[in-house]
Amino acid sequence: MNRFAGKHVLVTGGARGVGLGIALAFGREGARLTLFDVHEENLDAARASVATSGAEEVVTALVDVTDRARVFAEVEAADTRAPLDVLVNNAGIAEEEGFLDVSEESWKHILDVNLTGMFHVAQAACRHMAPRRRGVVLNMASKNGLDGEVGYAHYNASKGGVVMLTKTMALELAHAGIRVNAVAPGYLQTPMSMEIDNPEFVRDFVDRYIPAGRPGTVEDVTGLFLFLASDEAMWTTGQVFVIDGGQLAGQKPGKDLLDRLGPRT
Ligand SMILES: NC(=O)c1ccc[n+]([C@@H]2O[C@H](COP(=O)([O-])OP(=O)(O)OC[C@H]3O[C@@H](n4cnc5c(N)ncnc54)[C@H](O)[C@@H]3O)[C@@H](O)[C@H]2O)c1
Repeated sequence: MNRFAGKHVLVTGGARGVGLGIALAFGREGARLTLFDVHEENLDAARASVATSGAEEVVTALVDVTDRARVFAEVEAADTRAPLDVLVNNAGIAEEEGFLDVSEESWKHILDVNLTGMFHVAQAACRHMAPRRRGVVLNMASKNGLDGEVGYAHYNASKGGVVMLTKTMALELAHAGIRVNAVAPGYLQTPMSMEIDNPEFVRDFVDRYIPAGRPGTVEDVTGLFLFLASDEAMWTTGQVFVIDGGQLAGQKPGKDLLDRLGPRT
């Protein structure tokens, strides 16, 4: 449909998983894309696949979002090629560790990538967008930024920080024509989660917590990014959009309760 023809979209962590899915979705809508990632091989493969999606252009750059100088240089290079319209601040990492065992090193690393890295890219991009009085920033939060999960104290804290970064940016940047929202997915099957969790864990997690009865996929979330980046969301800013198969709606009913009160099918 070419809804993003002529628009320049920067996706961080665009080499695989959700970031790659989002890049492909914008590519199918005719956008020009810049992808940042730390994984060179995946980035090369991503460039090749996004190039065949319908994208106007795909440029990749090896950028670690924690490297402020490199982030600022590469955002400047991207914006010089074509003014940035949309930033999808997606790069992130996760590690499962009990709270009592979290080392200072891993705490700092996760906060550095997931929160400080997001701040660097957002600030660099918004400094270009603000004088033009237009732009959209979509920060990747998580259901875990709103609700705790055992084994992820550092990750949950980083995503809680993303929620407040998003709200504060929205308040400060609305008068500069920049909309800032966050997306908070629940459990998605991506290379990240599949590296951490075995199939038995996933089955148990779905049974206990996800009313929709399955984990999310990358395709379940990409449409929300397109909507929030579009002019249809012109008056939407400062919000966190949960997309989680019903997990945060409340306590999932057990089988007994569903048998008694659920729909007769
Ligand atoms: N998978 C889930 O269940 C889930 C749920 C909610 C939110 N999220 C969030 O979605 C985002 C993407 O997650 P995913 O599941 O696709 O993970 P993923 O590991 O499959 O992809 C993340 C990408 O980010 C890149 N990256 C990591 N560190 C980086 C850095 N310092 N600089 C630049 N790029 C870096 C990786 O190389 C990778 O290509 C993350 O922010 C994650 O927290 C994931």
